[in-house]
Amino acid sequence: MRVLVTGGAGYIGSHTVLTLLEQGHDVEVVDNLVNGKAEAVRRVGELAGRDVPLHEVDLTDADATDAVLARGFDAVIHFAALKAVGESTQKPLEYYANNMGSTFTLMDAMRRHDCRTIVFSSSATVYGAKAPVPYVEDYEPLDSSSTYGQTKVMTERILTDVAAADPAWRVALLRYFNPVGAHPSGRIGEDPQGIPNNLVPFIAQVAVGRRDRLSVFGGDYPTADGTAERDYIHVQDVAEGHVVALDAIVGGDAGVRVWNLGSGQGTSVLEMIHAFERASGREIPYEVVDRRPGDLPAFWADPTKAEQELGWRTSRTVDDMCRDTWTWQSQNPQGYDA
Ligand code: NAD
Ligand code: WQD
Repeated sequence: MRVLVTGGAGYIGSHTVLTLLEQGHDVEVVDNLVNGKAEAVRRVGELAGRDVPLHEVDLTDADATDAVLARGFDAVIHFAALKAVGESTQKPLEYYANNMGSTFTLMDAMRRHDCRTIVFSSSATVYGAKAPVPYVEDYEPLDSSSTYGQTKVMTERILTDVAAADPAWRVALLRYFNPVGAHPSGRIGEDPQGIPNNLVPFIAQVAVGRRDRLSVFGGDYPTADGTAERDYIHVQDVAEGHVVALDAIVGGDAGVRVWNLGSGQGTSVLEMIHAFERASGREIPYEVVDRRPGDLPAFWADPTKAEQELGWRTSRTVDDMCRDTWTWQSQNPQGYDA
């Protein structure tokens, strides 16, 4: 298949492009490089043994997006978005304009060029604060405490409405839990700009000496060790989940399908710190501080639906995630910019 990957210069996108290439697909990337790196796409090409075309285009630019879609694709995997939860609440207009605007422009161009198959990056954040754990796909109503999360809730709604109006659309909504890790080669990985918001990139930067210590946000949660629990999932498992979901919507009935991409297991912040210490052989100094506003105590996926319908389940452990993150971080201490 000819697949266009939006946001393919970013973290999850770059790993998915590599997996698509390894499975024989013909892939092009569109990314405005606001958070992604051209070097990531170049390295993916190096690992796959063939060049990957990168269109440096902002998807909110309708004419430029139309020109990319005019090249002809069978399907789109749509990763492109701004994703910083805290920043989204400070800059709601920018987040709505980018995440919603790029989706409108993209879908309009897809329709014009007769491409109606899309896999969308949704998130566990759409389950909001009230869903029972583990999270199951048919839970309603969807909600989210952040502007970022609202863009995911709204995009799911829009894709659902578009597919209801035009039965030619094939849509997969993939709700990822907490993607971490890197390709085992250490050539591609997560390269956050500035101070990392997320746990594992922060731990990795402490381990490599870029930061002094980790702040553990909250030690008084109602969990076994008092720290919050999340469903961490290896980015390679996430990437493989996209390829099987794409195959399923292409080979199955038209319409909207939704799947969780998670392991079904919770891991606490302290358990993650200790796993990373084992993987890196480095001590991770930390201090327990106040809870981070908006954080939930513990949640994880019910992964049954993806297993039954896609034959997909996670195959990599937390130790694998830490080992591969450490390989990436230790070989690229300053990320792609070194
Ligand atoms: P990322 O920031 O590394 O990748 C997103 C890419 O989109 C970047 O390369 C960025 O430059 C590009 N982009 C943003 N706006 C664009 C625009 N207007 N036009 C063109 N390109 C644009 O993020 P990621 O972690 O790889 O996440 C990929 C997707 O998965 C996002 O939609 C994110 O919301 C979603 N997601 C991520 C997580 C996570 O924890 N990383 C969890 C759930 C869902
Ligand atoms: C994990 C745990 C923190 C940093 C976010 C988004 C979510 C999704 C994935 C996109 C929490 C704790 C963290 C630190 C810490 N993204 N922590 N010290 O918050 O589960 O999810 O990313 O859709 O929408 O909200 O992930 O990695 O930020 O935090 O103690 O320096 O680690 O409190 O319990 P989170 P995270």
